[in-house]
Amino acid sequence: MSQKIIFQSVTGMHDILPEDYFFFKKIEKQVEEIALFYGFERIETPILEFAELFFHTVGQSSDIVQKEMFLLKTKGDDLLALRPEGTAPVVRAYFQHSMQNLLQPVKLWYFGPFFRYEKPQLGRYRQFWQFGFEILGEKSPALDAQIIQIFFDLFSSLKIKNLVLKINSIGDKCCRPYYKKALVSYLKSRVHLLCPDCKRRIKENPLRVLDCKEEKCQQVISSAPQILDYLCENCKAHFKLVLEYLEELGLPYFLDPKLVRGLDYYTKTVFEIFQEGKEEIGALAGGGRYDGLGKILAKKELPAVGGAGGVERIVSLLREKTSFEEKKPKVFLAQLGEKARKKALKLFEEFRKAKILVRESVGKDSLKAQLRHAERLGVKYVLILGEREVLEGTIILKDMSSGQQTKIKLEKIISEIKKRLKNN
Ligand code: HAM
Repeated sequence: MSQKIIFQSVTGMHDILPEDYFFFKKIEKQVEEIALFYGFERIETPILEFAELFFHTVGQSSDIVQKEMFLLKTKGDDLLALRPEGTAPVVRAYFQHSMQNLLQPVKLWYFGPFFRYEKPQLGRYRQFWQFGFEILGEKSPALDAQIIQIFFDLFSSLKIKNLVLKINSIGDKCCRPYYKKALVSYLKSRVHLLCPDCKRRIKENPLRVLDCKEEKCQQVISSAPQILDYLCENCKAHFKLVLEYLEELGLPYFLDPKLVRGLDYYTKTVFEIFQEGKEEIGALAGGGRYDGLGKILAKKELPAVGGAGGVERIVSLLREKTSFEEKKPKVFLAQLGEKARKKALKLFEEFRKAKILVRESVGKDSLKAQLRHAERLGVKYVLILGEREVLEGTIILKDMSSGQQTKIKLEKIISEIKKRLKNN
């Protein structure tokens, strides 16, 4: 006997339904507006990249490379990865298209889907959307502050308040090895108190022990040596300026010596932005400076800084306070009879040109069915066009909340609706 198969989306990968798409578009529009203002140009890199690109940049010992990459072998035996993040692909594109010959810095932004094989949970998906801003070819700490400012501008334009900016400097290749040495020696002296993952991390990536969430590791970490005490003069001066710029911009920050981030390419500044009270969904955005990435990918110096935001996490905040209703049409156009249908099609087009959102059901004949449709949509006004109105050159305007019906000259209907929507 045949069995009914009910397909579901892949674990951790979700459909963006119309009510969420509304918020996705809203975020993308704001991101684009802010990007243009700050002089960023859009780039979209392919969803598939050679897996090697991430092994060497995100880092062999990072969680992303160790456990979270979606890998596939092509028929030609190439090992490809669904991109887990956007920074390495953007830097790859920068060198591939000789952008070092353009006026520096090159400022690029993107908005698209990314993939990580993580344990699905609140705010964590296996396919998620990110937007990012990357400034390539400039080493000034002013740009570290500008990237952070961009995220604050964006959140403010989306009316997301109570932001917490966590910031740290993780040094560079000159000073970090000294810190690593001190940290490893401290962790080794307390290895028996650490979780199995952290025991492994001591050897592979000791800095990652610092952001372990296990209670017993947290206790060890609380007395660990702090990287800020090990920064070289150059990194110290850079960080000091970043903090001064943030103060100048009026952006309050929280110095978090445990913030190391999960990607190996960072140097100097790293940051994450949360909403107070919503820490459980994770950071809304994160980023930092990655002056060493150009060397890894193209053996060329490329000072750079950037950050990326998680769209689903931001949507979850917007969904709580804004309703989808906002974009719902407020006008419904109903018609009765063939002549009226023709006129209605034309009138609908005029509403489109006037940028007034109108719904119709020109496929339906019965006025009752059309009015039921209008009621379900919850529109404020219904316009009714019958044979008589076509002959008279008028249209009936029904206010759905008062039930009042008024006859209006057809050529005046757009301005009348505009006026009424404005007064509402
Ligand atoms: P990231 O911190 O891994 O950084 O990701 C940036 C943001 O993407 C996070 O703050 C979070 O909002 C969102 N995100 C990350 N993973 C998930 C997930 N599994 N589900 C839902 N949202 C997620 C980067 O990817 C860097 N490339 C950022 C950057 C750009 N650094 C410099 N330039």
